[in-house]
Amino acid sequence: MRGKIIYYSETGHTRSAALLIQQTLGCPLRSVRTFPSINDCSVIIIGSPVRDEHIHPAMRSYIGTQIWKGKTVYPFITCGGVFLPVFQEIRAVICGARITDDLVIRYGFNGNLLTSPKDITAWAERIMIRHGTL
Ligand SMILES: Cc1cc2nc3c(=O)[nH]c(=O)nc-3n(C[C@H](O)[C@H](O)[C@H](O)COP(=O)(O)O)c2cc1C
Repeated sequence: MRGKIIYYSETGHTRSAALLIQQTLGCPLRSVRTFPSINDCSVIIIGSPVRDEHIHPAMRSYIGTQIWKGKTVYPFITCGGVFLPVFQEIRAVICGARITDDLVIRYGFNGNLLTSPKDITAWAERIMIRHGTL
């Protein structure tokens, strides 16, 4: 197995986005609640909600349990729109990994997806083009 999508979601937004990404990539999808291992993967897509302008604490704690050296990581976040330091934070806590493209997915107050699903799929397709089938 080469790839995995690992997410944390409280109200379902990040899980929905992760499912959409999975439709393109076809790789396994795991919640951090199941403590997935990344030992068997070279490419990991991680998805976290933004919580008080930070990466969600549950995702942050999970990241600390894994060894990221040598992995390629594509992070995405879901949020209402205030996310400025989050990718820097993700880059700081995921030590030794190659982190290239990231993606912001916005949801409105009533839970509607504001980012175009086409943009989400296009992001996943770029990963697919780079790495082939995961
Ligand atoms: C307690 C709390 C704090 C939040 N803080 C932010 C924030 O700082 N910036 C932002 O853009 N969205 C914020 N949000 C919105 C969530 O990031 C957004 O709804 C996200 O998509 C939730 O993902 P989930 O449904 O997968 O849990 C917050 C939501 C909650 C409940």
